Amino acid sequence: MDVVKLFFTVLLLFRFALANGDGLARKQHYVVYMGEHSFKDSESVVTANHEMLTSVMGSHEGAQGAAVHHYTKTFRGFSAILTSDQARKLQESDSVVSVFESKTSRVHTTHSWEFLGVTSLENSHQSLMNSTSDMIVGVIDSGVWPESKSFNDYGLAPVPAKFKGVCSTGENFTLSNCNRKIVGARFYYQGFVAETGPLEAFNETFFLSARDSDGHGKHTASTIAGSVVPNANLFGIGRGTARGGAARARLAIYKACWFGFCSDADILSAMDDAVSDGVDVISMSLGPDPPQSAYFGDANSIGSFHAFQRGVVVSASAGNSFLPGTATNVAPWILTVAASTMDREIQSNIYLGNSQLIKGFSINPFQMNSFYGLVAGSAAAAAGVPSANASFCKSDTLDPALVKGRIVVCTLEEILDSRNEKAATVKQAGGMGIILVDPLAKDIAFQFEIPGTVISIEEAGKLQAYMVSNQSPVARISQTVTVQPTKPAPEMAMFSSAGPNVISPDIIKPDITAPGVNVLAAWSPSATANTAGRSIDFNIISGTSMSCPHVSALAAIVKSVHPSWSPAAIKSAIMTTATTQDNARSSIRRHPNGTEASPFDYGSGLVNPAAAVDPGLVYDFDSSDVIDFLCSTGASPGQLKNLTGETTYCRNTTTSSYDFNYPSIGVSNQKGNTSVHRTVTYYGEGPAVYKAEVDSPAGAYVSVTPNELRFKQTGEKMSFVINFTPYEGSNENFVFGALTWTDGTHVVRSPIAVNISL
Ligand SMILES: *[C@@H]1O[C@H](CO)[C@@H](O)[C@H](O)[C@H]1NC(C)=O
Ligand SMILES: *[C@@H]1O[C@H](CO)[C@@H](O)[C@H](O)[C@H]1NC(C)=O
Ligand SMILES: *[C@@H]1O[C@H](CO)[C@@H](O)[C@H](O)[C@H]1NC(C)=O
Ligand SMILES: *[C@@H]1O[C@H](CO)[C@@H](O)[C@H](O)[C@H]1NC(C)=O
Ligand SMILES: *[C@@H]1O[C@H](CO)[C@@H](O)[C@H](O)[C@H]1NC(C)=O
Ligand SMILES: *[C@@H]1O[C@H](CO)[C@@H](O)[C@H](O)[C@H]1NC(C)=O
Ligand SMILES: *[C@@H]1O[C@H](CO)[C@@H](O)[C@H](O)[C@H]1NC(C)=O
Ligand SMILES: *[C@@H]1O[C@H](CO)[C@@H](O)[C@H](O)[C@H]1NC(C)=O
Repeated sequence: MDVVKLFFTVLLLFRFALANGDGLARKQHYVVYMGEHSFKDSESVVTANHEMLTSVMGSHEGAQGAAVHHYTKTFRGFSAILTSDQARKLQESDSVVSVFESKTSRVHTTHSWEFLGVTSLENSHQSLMNSTSDMIVGVIDSGVWPESKSFNDYGLAPVPAKFKGVCSTGENFTLSNCNRKIVGARFYYQGFVAETGPLEAFNETFFLSARDSDGHGKHTASTIAGSVVPNANLFGIGRGTARGGAARARLAIYKACWFGFCSDADILSAMDDAVSDGVDVISMSLGPDPPQSAYFGDANSIGSFHAFQRGVVVSASAGNSFLPGTATNVAPWILTVAASTMDREIQSNIYLGNSQLIKGFSINPFQMNSFYGLVAGSAAAAAGVPSANASFCKSDTLDPALVKGRIVVCTLEEILDSRNEKAATVKQAGGMGIILVDPLAKDIAFQFEIPGTVISIEEAGKLQAYMVSNQSPVARISQTVTVQPTKPAPEMAMFSSAGPNVISPDIIKPDITAPGVNVLAAWSPSATANTAGRSIDFNIISGTSMSCPHVSALAAIVKSVHPSWSPAAIKSAIMTTATTQDNARSSIRRHPNGTEASPFDYGSGLVNPAAAVDPGLVYDFDSSDVIDFLCSTGASPGQLKNLTGETTYCRNTTTSSYDFNYPSIGVSNQKGNTSVHRTVTYYGEGPAVYKAEVDSPAGAYVSVTPNELRFKQTGEKMSFVINFTPYEGSNENFVFGALTWTDGTHVVRSPIAVNISL
């Protein structure tokens, strides 16, 4: 959704919150979580839930009116509109594990319109396409547009028998909208409506079904497993083949997001269904606003823990919050995905009257055949408007007499300014085009209703130099061209949420990065708010929402090759094979200023699909290891029960939190000599010898014992110790290094992040 819409929605949510906040018996939407259950079927759970609600509501009718969702499959619970008193009473019940307020997550997209060909991930796996057809990826998002060519099921075998899901019909969605590609479709709106009011109040197109009016869900689903569509293009630019990373995998659609927002209670319902339907991977391009809250009362953390326990990989976006410490979905059992660029750029450059070229980025389908005068917004203020205000080109700030027939240079007041508003203002004042100065230039290719492009602060300096040195400066904005390959790539997107992990600082987050800048995928023709009113079938958008599906697809590919691997092993394979170098053989950098990125930006690095299917060694862990880890960070039995749903005690022998067998290595509080333990499982043919190489973080000597691992056969496990001997404190900051095991062919790399105090 675009920025205007975002603000509108936030205001609306706020308004409903205020309206509901009046009066003493303030009601809220709560999730009542009851953990594991032994009821024989869903109906008996619903009956028992109603009885329980009746006991606090006073009547059966009241109970039925209050209940919103029933969780009956992978765990028991319900959500309901309750007063805080009623919530407290339920909390006292023996069978209730926890009661927490259902909050709102949002989809992790930023908004861009650009056109690119297929991504690196989508190129490399021809030979695996067949085995991935047994894989089912559950997509929790804003639904799907089933008629898209990306969802044709040509050549696919029947739906795998393990799939137990359904094709729920609804508005403009019939049974025939499911096929061998879209194998299931469900939708959840009750939680959203209970929290924010009727869907109609949003005054936007929507379908009360799994049909996607927003475009986001269709985009993510087609990135994961869209069928091959040759000759996909936008305005004839960037023609190419569009397809998902796992183009033969199946999609089960769980629509839980409306107008960019998703209720926790709905998400939990979707996860409950997805796991019980038999999906292999869950892809969630959504998350709470930062900061991440404790796992024990967080719907995404609790739901994904149950998925993890049942062998389902959960891949989720880290968020688009720009700053350190803002990464969300950071539980160790989630695969947390950051966003970076590809080696393609969508350039809409500017030619100046002196033949100089200014590099710009946008989706600009317009052909500008001649040069037009250039004017800065600040020099074209309407009567009574200060020059500084006019520089932002907001509504009614420009003087048509000064703008008419010219290209206007505008700047941002705030990063979330509506770019559409600026273009509309220039158009209204008779301007011929817009040049926007915006640090997000390279990360989000915006689309305007008039010829327009977006330039970096750096390029703006060149433009300004030309404008001040010329009496009548002129420019021409060129039509968009796709440039490929470009270097350096990848670079971390400016918006990509970064670590450290504010809940578990010993676990490096995000885990991984994947293309999330200007990604091409299928689009909903009805979603025109951000396409300058144009109805299109393919679109290019940016966000960790776009990188997450790449990793979800890769998880499906790895699982199809190794069906018996646990979610942690699949995660390890993806992480340890990632690369931290760009295509110019330097360390990956971060936008906008090209500073060197760190594991808190990209985790283990950029995904490398070809290597991930054959990682050599794997760092595995299961849910009991997760419990040990949580115990080592001080979790109480009460908190553990809130997560697992079962009475759970910590074992007597607690290990250190940094000994959790994670595929990356973090020590958030290193005082003096520290020994970190890890165990790897060997997957290869015949004997193999792996040798350790260490890139020590500044301030510590690092050795590995043993530094050679000799494996005889596949499946064998071996343990080792990483010894840190610090000699210099790191001033409350993390310093970075890496441990790499290699047999000459396989490279098994773990980033190291340590915070040293002597
Ligand atoms: C478990 O969750 C409930 C909220 O439902 C909270 O009141 C309680 O403190 C939590 N228990 C622990 C030990 O954190
Ligand atoms: C995939 O399967 C089809 C039909 O079973 C077969 O014709 C094709 O050769 C297979 N492709 C690969 C790359 O294995
Ligand atoms: C949805 O269904 C209605 C009724 O059949 C139809 O008039 C309308 O055109 C459909 N809308 C879309 C976008 O398919
Ligand atoms: C809803 O949309 C209509 C038509 O675009 C508009 O006239 C009306 O003001 C909008 N209502 C609200 C509450 O935004
Ligand atoms: C100019 O911008 C400032 C800051 O945004 C605002 O307070 C002021 O009202 C604006 N003035 C006019 C005339 O728009
Ligand atoms: C990038 O550089 C600009 C201009 O030098 C500066 O204002 C800005 O703070 C820098 N941004 C970051 C994220 O370092
Ligand atoms: C933990 O230790 C206590 C006392 O040493 C013992 O009674 C208890 O059984 C032990 N618990 C477990 C789970 O081993
Ligand atoms: C830390 O380890 C180094 C190297 O193994 C050793 O020389 C030193 O004595 C150790 N220091 C402590 C306090 O154990």
